[in-house]
Amino acid sequence: MSDKKELDKMEKIVSLCKRRGFVYSSSEIYGGFAGVYDFGPVGVELENNIKAHWWKWMVQKRRDIVGLDSSIFMNPKIWEASGHTKGFSDPMAECRECNTRIRVDKVLEEIGVSADEKMSEEEINKIFDEHKDKIKCPKCGKQNFTKARKFNLLVQSNLGDFTENNDDPAYLRGETCQGIYVNFKNVIDSTHLKLPLGIAQIGKAFRNEISPRQFLFRGREFEQMEMQYFLEPDKEMEEYEKLKEYRWKATLDLGLKEENLRWKQHENLVFYAKDAWDIEYKYPWGFDEMEGVHARGDYDLTQHSKGCGKEQDYYDQDNNKRFIPHIIESSVGVGRTVFAVIMDAYTEEEVNGEIRVVLKFNKKIAPIKVAVLPLSKKEELTKPALEVFEGLNEKFICHYDETQSIGKRYRRQDEIGTPYCVTFDFESLEDQAVTVRDRDTMKQERIKIEDLENYLTEKLK
Ligand code: GAP
Repeated sequence: MSDKKELDKMEKIVSLCKRRGFVYSSSEIYGGFAGVYDFGPVGVELENNIKAHWWKWMVQKRRDIVGLDSSIFMNPKIWEASGHTKGFSDPMAECRECNTRIRVDKVLEEIGVSADEKMSEEEINKIFDEHKDKIKCPKCGKQNFTKARKFNLLVQSNLGDFTENNDDPAYLRGETCQGIYVNFKNVIDSTHLKLPLGIAQIGKAFRNEISPRQFLFRGREFEQMEMQYFLEPDKEMEEYEKLKEYRWKATLDLGLKEENLRWKQHENLVFYAKDAWDIEYKYPWGFDEMEGVHARGDYDLTQHSKGCGKEQDYYDQDNNKRFIPHIIESSVGVGRTVFAVIMDAYTEEEVNGEIRVVLKFNKKIAPIKVAVLPLSKKEELTKPALEVFEGLNEKFICHYDETQSIGKRYRRQDEIGTPYCVTFDFESLEDQAVTVRDRDTMKQERIKIEDLENYLTEKLK
């Protein structure tokens, strides 16, 4: 598919997301708020299913990984020790004509020039100067930019600061994993688990992104699903390969098409990293990072040992030795996964001369599993149809819908990716059976109401 077609598809998806209650722009009635999104009634179900899928793979299926829910606010010293107050920045330049800010590394990448946010101001300005003639302001089209300078992404707050100048700010966390590192000792002491040990959590993170764009891909408030695996130094690379393999399997299990996924190794590693790979998804603008799988050495616990003045080490009783555990991590954004899953499922088909839009989600992550639809609004049908709905609703997430024609209701359910529609018609009153329509094949089957739950359980397995 050409770029233009993919970008058109993205426009259609953003519009469908709003129309059908997946994703809304935040604060829309006040003109919106850049880089922040709200998940609607169907979106929150999809989001929950994606998080539950991740939790199942990263905690429940594993004897060696436990969960955590740490706070968003933490002692500001944590962000100093981790290096975020100094080094967590992106290169930014400003258009001198209209004051629009651009993220220089991304703009360079868009014109095919290799650059990244880890480069020093000097390095990035050298490349920026060489290619300035090819870069236009996305707003006014002029080519008059300031020099690139590093812009810190941490979001500050005034929590607990009652002075005017706020010179010791508390931050909203920039990544969830710092809450894991600083709880490593607590988890070891309270569970008596041994290494290797993973700690996983899902939660909000906040970054002052310079140009939040590309829908859910780059937000200022977003959710991360992160697992940090603590281990002996000489096991790091062996376990790293296993983690990469495991995350690939888990990603495919979400139902994403393999041809839309690929691995990409980082070219410029941060000084402490042993290796770093991203799982990239084919977003409308091309392959881009969905998840990072990194081998981080002993950097994190060494920094926190220095920061808090207490060794964040581990005592290996079996071998009577003490060491600072090394860490391998898997980190993926909920929003980027939701976006990829919707992109992947989006299908247009010609049916009887019309275009049918259908989200062919993997059934296990489809937000709504079954829709119960009485053929007419007459009480003789709606009453028993509601009974069917209430019976199924105990087991599956269901919709009940009696508005508009049956054709329109099928189309609505197709657009939110509901695998099965159950229609209660006049004949149902006679034969105690309903019509079940399959989302993907549109085939219809007559099923006895008493067999319906078993039938759907089998189909949704
Ligand atoms: N602890 C490692 C870490 O945070 P990262 O590459 O900065 O690494 C990890 O972020 C993942 O979080 C990314 O792969 C992406 O899925 C998600 N993510 C990062 N920044 C994001 C943003 N501004 N909006 C949405 N998701 C984001």
